[in-house]
Amino acid sequence: MSMDFSPFPNTLEMVQWLSKFGQTKNDGVTRLLYTPSWLEAQEALKTFMEKAGFQPYYDSVGNLFGRVEGKDKTAPIILTGSHVDTVVDGGKFDGAYGVIASLIAVQRLFKKYGEPKHTMEVVSLCEEEGSRFPISYWGSRNITGEYTLDDAAAVRDEDGVSLLEAMKISGFSPDHYKPTSRTDIGCFVEIHIEQGRILEKAAKSIGLVSHIVGQKRFTITVQGESNHAGTTPMHDRKDALSIAAGLIAHITEKAGKADSGLRATVGSITASPNVSNVIAGKTDFSLDVRHHDTANLEQFCDELFRYFKDIAGKSGTMINVRQWFQADSVKMDENLLNIARLTASEKGISHHELTSGAGHDSQVFGSFCPTALLFVPSVDGISHSPLEQTLNKDLEKGVELLTAFLYKLAYQGGEI
Ligand code: HGY
Ligand code: MN
Ligand code: MN
Repeated sequence: MSMDFSPFPNTLEMVQWLSKFGQTKNDGVTRLLYTPSWLEAQEALKTFMEKAGFQPYYDSVGNLFGRVEGKDKTAPIILTGSHVDTVVDGGKFDGAYGVIASLIAVQRLFKKYGEPKHTMEVVSLCEEEGSRFPISYWGSRNITGEYTLDDAAAVRDEDGVSLLEAMKISGFSPDHYKPTSRTDIGCFVEIHIEQGRILEKAAKSIGLVSHIVGQKRFTITVQGESNHAGTTPMHDRKDALSIAAGLIAHITEKAGKADSGLRATVGSITASPNVSNVIAGKTDFSLDVRHHDTANLEQFCDELFRYFKDIAGKSGTMINVRQWFQADSVKMDENLLNIARLTASEKGISHHELTSGAGHDSQVFGSFCPTALLFVPSVDGISHSPLEQTLNKDLEKGVELLTAFLYKLAYQGGEI
């Protein structure tokens, strides 16, 4: 086996190739879990793995693995990769770069050093974003055992399609589900774009992530009363859209005055009946709250929902808060962080330690096995946008460090 299949002249070209699956008219990417473009991307990666000499296989929820057997069959597996799904009209690099960089790094190692001591697996995780279904980390939390099919039983997308039905249509029938939780993984290594400005401003090539912030995601429902826009006096309304607008303004103002590490975002809103001459009877909006300190995050939310209760009482409406996602802030593995730092220094690659404001699959693996998360710079810090960009020189620097880091873990061994 040679593993020298590399049809792309550089890493950026391979990222461009993968971005064609789900390409939008704005030259962004929409690749949502269990949609045709998602399946095409996974299948294209599987074909790449086959041609490159990996042993590809799916687990029951659609995580795609490319395995390279190690000499020591008792040694724990070195798992590396990221997620293949995207947000709606997102960028080409978020998740995809991590899968591609891991494939290239493992190929380079095998070509240069042959069979590793530890078995290595590159994983293209099926879902991380929570962009189609109100559930996140569906891929990684199935591997760690935090999720089973039961957790998806009532999950539907905004068109009412159930996750399990969509899974079946993609060829991963729940009837054939085999437990996906793993006990053979020694560590997880992920490389990802920073999605912020810190590395670019510090003019550093690599980010060494020490912590990933905690986050909570909610759907807030304001239940008022639909009524006629012309005949209903202003003082006599239960206007769900107007009340929601006030709550959203309050969220932004409160977050702006909070600790600088606090982030609160309302990214989506729907009103019904959503007609210009009808007072909205119901409004649903999303709320995403993050902080690196869990107590701070909890306190912000508690205070906010007490305010909501007060507004509900004063306006005669019902305000319902439904939390559908939670991830604790997680510290990355100190030992792996030190090895990554040493490797970057040995290779003369500039690096900077930072906290990740974005969630990542490493947040899930971080409380399951020793985990390391590496960043490469994002141009202007833009992400979750068709304008998301990382220069090829930075992509290549990331692959160079990832390759050297994985060499220490999988060939020299003894580190985990
Ligand atoms: O939302 C996030 O932080 C990540 O991109 N899923
Ligand atoms: Mn993302
Ligand atoms: Mn991501």
